[in-house]
Amino acid sequence: MRLFFALWPDDTVRAKLARWSRDFHDACGGRPTRPENMHITLAFLGDVEEARVADVERAADSVAPVPVSLVLDQPGYWKHNRIAWAGASAVPRELEAFVADLRGALLRAGIAFDDNKGFVSHVTLVRNARPPRAMPELPPIEWRLDGFALVQTVLLPSSSGGGSRYEIRRTWKAQSRSR
Ligand code: 2AM
Repeated sequence: MRLFFALWPDDTVRAKLARWSRDFHDACGGRPTRPENMHITLAFLGDVEEARVADVERAADSVAPVPVSLVLDQPGYWKHNRIAWAGASAVPRELEAFVADLRGALLRAGIAFDDNKGFVSHVTLVRNARPPRAMPELPPIEWRLDGFALVQTVLLPSSSGGGSRYEIRRTWKAQSRSR
């Protein structure tokens, strides 16, 4: 099965991201991400054998994210893959450290993931987008990160328009650190 770890927004953040996505779509056309699919990828595992999924979950059990706020205040566009995205001008240290821990746990468990790209915190908003003449002006979005999710990509049949749907398999909650 096709898996990845992600930060999954709540409905409020999702609605704000959908608003950004509409503005980007007005500026650059393309194919907007369905709001229910919006997320930040932490580690992309790709195809994982059923028998290895328990090891994947165990690796995630061994890391401990702390709650932290992420402010999405930076609209961006990548020419090479024609993606318009929402990013953060400052990624909290706690988030960087957590992603490093999660990826380290996967490595130690011998679970392969795509680490070519490193972690770039972004929400893909529009695919196959034209370069915008100017970045849309977008109100910052405050996202309280309170956990992470293991997500499965389910490919939709071409008879129903194709594309993919993401199914959350399991979530892990962030815990405030006691002093
Ligand atoms: P993207 O949004 O920038 O395309 C599910 O496919 C998620 O995993 C997407 O958010 C995608 O990022 C991300 N991802 C990271 N590496 C990937 C890869 N090698 N193949 C497909 N998706 C990848």
